[in-house]
Amino acid sequence: MRVQVEVTSALQDYIAEMSLREPAALAALREETEQMPGAIMQVSPEEGQFLGVLVRALGASRVLEVGTFTGYSTISIARALPAGGSVLSCDISSEASSIALAHARRAGVEDKVDLRVGDAVGVLTGLTGLAGRADRRGSFDLVFIDADKEGYADYYEIALRLVRPGGLILVDNVLWHGAVLDEAEQDSETTAIRAFNEKIREDERVDLSILPFADGLAFAVKR
Ligand SMILES: C[S@@+](CC[C@H](N)C(=O)[O-])C[C@H]1O[C@@H](n2cnc3c(N)ncnc32)[C@H](O)[C@@H]1O
Repeated sequence: MRVQVEVTSALQDYIAEMSLREPAALAALREETEQMPGAIMQVSPEEGQFLGVLVRALGASRVLEVGTFTGYSTISIARALPAGGSVLSCDISSEASSIALAHARRAGVEDKVDLRVGDAVGVLTGLTGLAGRADRRGSFDLVFIDADKEGYADYYEIALRLVRPGGLILVDNVLWHGAVLDEAEQDSETTAIRAFNEKIREDERVDLSILPFADGLAFAVKR
């Protein structure tokens, strides 16, 4: 028998009431983002707080993020970093990135945030030392992947080169609101997530766990 609590909306409210400590700077960003198209893409305050807890628990100081959007996860991570730590976050949208930068300033963490605008494959590949740029292979403690789902397999492969042995690759939305189980769902995002989950299941380069938190989080620790 498997014990797994059903997280009803009442229980979600209880969890938030018992544990959520959203700082004013992040509440202001969330309220601004709520007015924007695509607001649903932002991580929840609970997930943002969880990312911060994880950064602290791991003692991570070099973090890479794929998918900044307006910066809720980026700033949640940055706030938890030690002095001298940094989060390099990339997004294809310059508009969203400029909102993220403005809020990082307001939250007082702009010195810890390195925002890169561009296609994630290009940005991440650049970090592997190609084209004469600095080689960041093996230098990140934690990678958080939360961008277009069709790109997950590529981002994961490059992330594996960029994270240090023992470092964590965290991948968001791997349960895709349950659609992974519904064979009627054959859109490009759902099929990409299914294929990604099957890929990591077979991947012996990592230790693996999938948690039913938020929209499903995969943890892959590089061996
Ligand atoms: C789910 S949102 C990220 C949410 C963010 N972590 C937060 O908490 O607000 C996904 C982001 O990926 C970006 N994106 C989509 N395709 C991309 C690509 N090819 N390269 C880089 N970013 C991309 C989108 O512009 C969007 O902002």
